[in-house]
Amino acid sequence: TRVDVGIVGGGPAGLMTALLLKRRGISAAVVETRSKDEIHRTQRAGILEAGTVQMLVDADIGSRVLTDGHEHPGTVLSFEGVQHRIDFQELVDRSVWLYPQNEVFLDLATAWEREGGQIHWSVSDSSVEGIESDAPALTFRDEHGDRGRIEAKLIVGADGSRSKCRKLIPEDVRTDYFTAYPFAWFGILCEAPPTAPELIYANSEVGFALISQRNESVQRMYFQCDPQTDPEQWEEEAIFDHIQQVLGEGVELKRGPIFEKTVLPFRSYVCDPLTYQRLVLAGDAGHTVPPTGAKGLNLAFCDVRALIPRVEEFLAQSESATDPFAPLRNYSRTALDRVWKAQNFSYWATNLLHRQPDENAFAHQRRRGEFDAITGSVYGRAYFADSYTGWADIHGQ
Ligand code: DHB
Repeated sequence: TRVDVGIVGGGPAGLMTALLLKRRGISAAVVETRSKDEIHRTQRAGILEAGTVQMLVDADIGSRVLTDGHEHPGTVLSFEGVQHRIDFQELVDRSVWLYPQNEVFLDLATAWEREGGQIHWSVSDSSVEGIESDAPALTFRDEHGDRGRIEAKLIVGADGSRSKCRKLIPEDVRTDYFTAYPFAWFGILCEAPPTAPELIYANSEVGFALISQRNESVQRMYFQCDPQTDPEQWEEEAIFDHIQQVLGEGVELKRGPIFEKTVLPFRSYVCDPLTYQRLVLAGDAGHTVPPTGAKGLNLAFCDVRALIPRVEEFLAQSESATDPFAPLRNYSRTALDRVWKAQNFSYWATNLLHRQPDENAFAHQRRRGEFDAITGSVYGRAYFADSYTGWADIHGQ
């Protein structure tokens, strides 16, 4: 097959790219190594920025975000058992939406298939050829083992944080920025009603916990743990007792049978530039944030928003254009500005809310001061609200 754009990765970044390109009359095909069901079952974050919700609505794909999602006009920061509400609506006139990423994925995949979009799930032996030539291609074996080849004018690498596409940018062109953290998140799903109407991000002397939600009867919670933790070593009661200890006595945690336990790694990564010749990266393939603040999917959608007009520009050029890759480099610059802003917020919120393994008394008291500076002032709260809900300048509000 021949298309304008070949997309590696059928997660939210790849599918949103495919759909928005189609809206502009640009053809795309997607290859994905996992099955649709496997992606749909993978637990990811559940908070969408206002701009992300807007993109889902504007894409006209029949997303259920406004009917099945829940608007959250604020959140709660809890420090040593004292709760402070951050009122997003009052502070920055925006909300976020609780709508799990698996549902975003399902909306996008359903729309792409319904519209007859080409997608190959569960491919193996996939590779990208010829990004330095005029005719790059995706080659793969489909789920029946048959060989497939998609020829394109441009390849979008949206193949997630362990991206293979990224490695096609030569090392002397690419800078990898990386930082590690000495902790991870222990995430659970349990059958219980919501503990509180909004999310609670909590810090205490025993570290971090986050009380999130899924629906009326299933809840998502996380707490800080050592990256080597074996989830099976933690019993249900011990998990809830620990989270309750982080929350303190002001909030009573709603408990119920736990049916999923996972340990999530933590790291920050940026690839610069996000393009090389006929390859561009979007979403986690180009950058990874730690989960605090739920910026991953939102950032992927911002990439896509910045990418679409630049792809259109790239494809519309005459053969004799003197610098044909300029639109793609432009995309990289625009997207990375936003990426670094979100990297900063995710890093900052992570350090504000977690306990370092070797933390001394000074570090603890300093954090108390930092918490006060955020929660005790309208300017501090507005900083948190503006960052968390996704910076108005980019969404043009
Ligand atoms: C969720 C995950 C996050 O990392 C976060 O900051 C907020 C919510 C979630 O899974 O619901």
